[in-house]
Parts: sequence; structure tokens; C-alpha cells
Amino acid sequence: MNEPEDYAYVELNDIWKIYKNEDDVIHALSRINCSFRECSFNIIVGPSGCGKSTLIRILGLLETPSLGEVLINCENTSDQPQKIRNSIIRDEIGMVFQSSNLIQTLNAIDNLTLPMLSSDNKKAKDLLKKVGFTDYNKFPNEMSLEEEQRVCIARAMVNNHSLILLDEPTGALHSREAYEIMQLLLGLNRSEGLTIILTTNNKKLSQFDCNKFEMIDGTILKK
Ligand SMILES: Nc1ncnc2c1ncn2[C@@H]1O[C@H](COP(=O)(O)OP(=O)(O)OP(=O)(O)O)[C@@H](O)[C@H]1O
Ligand SMILES: [Mg+2]
Repeated sequence: MNEPEDYAYVELNDIWKIYKNEDDVIHALSRINCSFRECSFNIIVGPSGCGKSTLIRILGLLETPSLGEVLINCENTSDQPQKIRNSIIRDEIGMVFQSSNLIQTLNAIDNLTLPMLSSDNKKAKDLLKKVGFTDYNKFPNEMSLEEEQRVCIARAMVNNHSLILLDEPTGALHSREAYEIMQLLLGLNRSEGLTIILTTNNKKLSQFDCNKFEMIDGTILKK
């Protein structure tokens, strides 16, 4: 039997994403084949416009590929109805974006309890503690950008999600803050067994101990 670390938790098989506008055809993703092991930490590095956000939306089942399959737990999600895909999102996938998209009128705890299947303040506090944020009653406009990202990372874990997708989570941060967020994610990968897939256009982030992928013109090269 395969060890858990050898198990392809997420697999992309020959993924293409083609957007058609009135007189333009854009190949946002072309022929992507790669897999991500359970409990692995993966960084996809690529320049602006290479397809990182498109890839994250496809991995997060927010969009379907034009061609190809996204397998999660060996299950092909690409031909499932959106209702089934939504239940996979709810049960498995947490997402973090470059800008925090916390709800401005809610404090940190309430931002976490809102998406919970059943609201649990103690769990919200425990998660916030895990990401190093203990000003539980702060509102987003009282937080630094780094603090907001910490709260977003905690929010991505509220329903015991095991796959966390992050689209340029450090893109708006200074290098010191970016380093702190990366250290946090590495720690959570190890302590919580999270599978992490993160995009960035900052080559320096691939210095961290992780699986490195390079994205160029809509396709992925494993480093
Ligand atoms: N909904 C859409 N309709 C048409 N074209 C799109 C759409 N979404 C993305 N694209 C195009 O697909 C390509 C990849 O875009 P994407 O946003 O995925 O790149 P990115 O690597 O995330 O860029 P950035 O680093 O600037 O965020 C770009 O040419 C973009 O214009
Ligand atoms: Mg993007």
C-alpha cells in the first residue's frame, strides 16, 4: 500500500482553459499535468498573466476546465454537477486570496463563525490562536495586512478543510511579513497535515522547503 505521502490527493490531467471573447481566444491554461500529494506543501511560481489565478479557481472547483480532469481523492470532479462540486468545496477546500476579503462589519471571531457549518466561538478562537492572532474582537479595518491574511488562513480551516489553496497570499505584504506568513503555513502543513498549494510571482518564496513548480504561459513545469 502507498504511504500517505505518496498518494496523489489532487491530480490535474491534461487541463486546458480557453476563454473566448468577441474576437479573442485566450489560452489561459494549456496541457497541465501534475499532481499534489496528501500533506504536501507546494509552491507554484510564475509571472503576472501566466494563469495562476485561473489554475487556483480550477483547483478550487470554482470554474471547470475547457478540457481535462481535476481529480480530488481519485474522484473526477470535472464532470460532476456543480451541486456535488459545491459539497466537495464545503467539505475539503479552503481558499485564501491576495486581498483578504474579510467581512468588514464582523470582528475576527465572527468572520470565522459565519462560514462554519455550526457556529462555534471556541473553535474560532482556537483556530485564531493557531495562526498567531489573539485580538479576537478586532475588526478588519483595525488589522494590518499580515493580520488579515492570518485571519483568512484561519477562516480557510474552519470546516476542517484539508486542502488549502492560496492565490498570491503574500502579494500585498512586505518581505518580512511574507516570510512570517510562509513560516506559519509551513508550520500548519506540518502540525495539521494540511495539503497546501500556493501561487506567487515572488521567486524568493521557493527558498522554503516545498515542492516547487514553475508556471509559464499557462503551463506548469515541475522543478
Ligand atoms: N474570465 C476571463 N476571461 C477572459 N480572459 C481571462 C479570464 N480570466 C483570466 N483571463 C486571461 O487568462 C490569462 C491568465 O490570467 P490569470 O489571471 O489566471 O493570470 P495570473 O498569473 O493570475 O496573473 P496575475 O499575476 O496578474 O494575477 C490572462 O491572459 C488573462 O487575461
Ligand atoms: Mg492572479
